[in-house]
Amino acid sequence: MLLITGGAGFIGSNFIHTWIKQSSEKIVNIDCLTYAGNLYNLDGINEQHLFIEEDINNSEQIQKLINLHKPRAILHFAAESHVDRSIDSPDRFIQTNILGTFNLLQASLNYYNTLSIVNQSQFKFIHISTDEVYGSLNLNDKPFNENTAYAPNSPYAASKAASDHLVRSFFHTYNLPCIITHCSNNYGPYQFPEKLIPLVINNALQNKSLPIYGNGLNIRDWLHVEDHCMALIEILNKGKVGEVYNIGGCNEKTNIEVVNNICNILDKLKPKTSSYTKQIIFVKDRLGHDKRYAVDNNKIQTELDWQPKYTFESGILQTVNWYLNNEDWLQKTISGKYQNWINKQYESVK
Ligand code: NAD
Ligand code: TYD
Repeated sequence: MLLITGGAGFIGSNFIHTWIKQSSEKIVNIDCLTYAGNLYNLDGINEQHLFIEEDINNSEQIQKLINLHKPRAILHFAAESHVDRSIDSPDRFIQTNILGTFNLLQASLNYYNTLSIVNQSQFKFIHISTDEVYGSLNLNDKPFNENTAYAPNSPYAASKAASDHLVRSFFHTYNLPCIITHCSNNYGPYQFPEKLIPLVINNALQNKSLPIYGNGLNIRDWLHVEDHCMALIEILNKGKVGEVYNIGGCNEKTNIEVVNNICNILDKLKPKTSSYTKQIIFVKDRLGHDKRYAVDNNKIQTELDWQPKYTFESGILQTVNWYLNNEDWLQKTISGKYQNWINKQYESVK
């Protein structure tokens, strides 16, 4: 039995889809369904998966659930994950990402201490973190590796960095068998349309502007979410406790390249009288906008024999096709609350 948190979100739900394709082992999913958690992401998943609506901050319930389900591993995805929201109102990021993680660690440790020596030797707590804890690179800097110093710049990145430190301390102080992963920007099916790629696809289809922050030259290292999930499965199977693994796509792109790419695909798959690129507009830059992220995959490739299967070109084509074929998912996901955020964030953008 695996226990995951945040499995109704983008990466967690993709993890469940990927997991049940390759294993019959049960999976318990604890998620409190924030605006980003969506049970539509889990449509079609069978009884191998058990969903439990609960907040990781609820210490009593979390302890009960872990003790009841007796997982052999916990994968912790639950978080507030959007940088712009962390700039707008950081409080919830501190609560969930730091205090919620602390609570989950305490409950996991209490449970771990009740296990037999054999079960203890097999247990793993995998903390899903981000490359954003390393801060921002200049154009000629080397990509982040596992020894890069922490330098988080946004409240989101700072809250994830704090949670990483807590996880590390539970390994070193109490011997809780933890692993920390730092992944680059993910994209793919079931991503909430507040992040760049699904937002642009959604806006393009709705004939709205495609807002690019600043000059569009900020760089992200894009990884298809299925490749991230496969990396986590390798880490679950073969990763060494106490270690850190960076996971990157080896796909550095400027934001304007990404948006042009999506427009070109849509021009072919769903042509209009004029190109979707005509909808691109440049808007006010994000506060403290990190210039460049890039991740060095060397450790996970050599030690765990993992590498991404998608190139950016194959992954973005698959993703645009998925959104085109799942317009009903998109419609259901864009609720009233989503509209409030979009109106606030992009006030001047129509
Ligand atoms: P997401 O925002 O799509 O999903 C987060 C999920 O966590 C949602 O289902 C939400 O309901 C749940 N959640 C939030 N607070 C909770 C709480 N207090 N209790 C229980 N559940 C709660 O995020 P995502 O993009 O799927 O990211 C998952 C993890 O991966 C996060 O920890 C994030 O920091 C990390 N990460 C994301 C990316 C990326 O590009 N999306 C890259 C690297 C790392
Ligand atoms: P995002 O998907 O929010 O991921 P992150 O901030 O975690 O990297 O943003 C990816 C890049 O796209 C980032 O440089 C900000 C930029 N961006 C835009 O230009 N316009 C947008 O509307 C959004 C949401 C992001």
